[in-house]
Amino acid sequence: MTDFEKKILCIGAGYVGGPTMAMIALKCPQYKVHVVDINPDRIDAWNSQELPIYEPGLEEVVFEARGRNLFFSTDIQEGIEEADIIFVSVNTPTKTFGEGAGMAADLQYWEKTARQILECSKSPKIIVEKSTVPVRTAQAMERILGTDGSGKFQVLSNPEFLAEGTAIEDLKCPDRVLIGSRLTEEGLKARDELVSIYANWVPKENIVTSDTWSSELSKLVANAFLAQRISSINAISALCEKTGADVSRVAYAVGKDGRIGDKFLKSSVGFGGSCFKKDILNLVYLCRSYGLQEVADYWEQVVKINEYQKERFVLNMLHTMFDTLAGKRICLLGFAFKADTGDTRETPGIYIAQRLAEEHCRVVVSDPQALDNAKIDLKDLGDAVSYVEDPYEAAADCDALAVLTEWNLYKELDYTKIYNSMTKPAFVFDGRNILDHQALHDIGFNVFPIGKPA
Ligand code: NAD
Ligand code: UGA
Repeated sequence: MTDFEKKILCIGAGYVGGPTMAMIALKCPQYKVHVVDINPDRIDAWNSQELPIYEPGLEEVVFEARGRNLFFSTDIQEGIEEADIIFVSVNTPTKTFGEGAGMAADLQYWEKTARQILECSKSPKIIVEKSTVPVRTAQAMERILGTDGSGKFQVLSNPEFLAEGTAIEDLKCPDRVLIGSRLTEEGLKARDELVSIYANWVPKENIVTSDTWSSELSKLVANAFLAQRISSINAISALCEKTGADVSRVAYAVGKDGRIGDKFLKSSVGFGGSCFKKDILNLVYLCRSYGLQEVADYWEQVVKINEYQKERFVLNMLHTMFDTLAGKRICLLGFAFKADTGDTRETPGIYIAQRLAEEHCRVVVSDPQALDNAKIDLKDLGDAVSYVEDPYEAAADCDALAVLTEWNLYKELDYTKIYNSMTKPAFVFDGRNILDHQALHDIGFNVFPIGKPA
């Protein structure tokens, strides 16, 4: 057996733990990287030919490193015992019960992990917060571990900024890697240790170091800023629809200003994903708990506008289609929360399908990667929903198409063929503004983009 220079453990083999550790293993064959999880099915999938998550480029990375210096198992105890560095990448969802329900982060998985680390550790360890956590969580971790920042354990903050669908590119060439630590001698030594891992492939100037609390807060703020841009342009899309302005042109003109920048200004049916909403609500809760009501209200509005945008999309369909959707069929083109992922956590599709079913509409869901997840998300809607992967079959006999995910394949469909198979008048609601609206109009569709004249 090879003697590895360092032994790295990651607790939590999800969307973050799996890809981030696979990248470390790929770039650092001198380290042993062991990823553990309490979910044996997930671990089996990581050890199989069918990985548990879809992410472009992930298979190549995993298949190259797996068995060489990348290992997946459920043996958490052994993993902790032998590790020098432990990344904690467990889920930190929004709390659904008790104080802070619907707002605060649920830290029970996080705390269980901390206790398990304490129980199984026989040697000094560096513990790295990879999960997104409220500010000062590292302090709670230290208290559970019984350390005051000196001695056996050092706790670092190293939030992850990858986006799904581009995770492998983001990990290969990150805009920055952020590492927060105590600014004591021992804290800085631990920080240097983590810097030296990333320095195997990330340029030094892209490795940003700071104190622990600033690092923890930066992650929440980065997500809040990103989501805020989407809510800002989505709010403007509503005004565009009233005034005849075109939101894409407005975004282009505004984004040309170097101070504003052109990224993350695509108007949509609303943002989804497991993190934006939860992290903003976490920030809002944090502000309220420090008595910062105005600050909390300001950030909460980002989430409110997102809810408004989803509802606006549904009402637009309802009003356009003669104020009744009962008995009509609407085909949702795309269900994943964004393209190039099968992830459906917090996808606008869930809300939209539920609202359409409430209107007694029949919903046909189509998606190249997310149908298995969609079936779980929408199981309570029973027969009101059907699931058809082939977009042509899905659209047949429908009254309307609603594009919810910006999959490239939807840009390339034969819309004449689709139009001919649909009930007339046929409608298109382009929740991503990805289709050629003029061409669709010429075919005979009634076309309703977001934030543009119909
Ligand atoms: P996930 O739900 O996909 O994965 C978390 C994994 O942790 C699960 O497989 C779960 O079984 C496991 N787990 C929970 N408790 C455990 C325990 N006690 N021991 C061992 N395993 C345990 O979540 P995710 O999307 O990977 O997110 C993880 C964290 O990273 C969250 O805090 C999230 O906010 C943050 N984050 C996510 C993304 C993203 O794109 N998904 C990006 C950046 C940051
Ligand atoms: C986001 C952040 O981009 C990552 O930096 C962060 O690490 C991650 O959250 C996290 O903490 O989980 P992700 O949610 O995977 O990543 O994907 P994004 O590309 O940010 O898209 C989020 C949502 O916003 C999607 O529904 C997307 O369609 C929507 N979006 C994005 C828009 O509606 N308009 C845009 O211009 C951009």
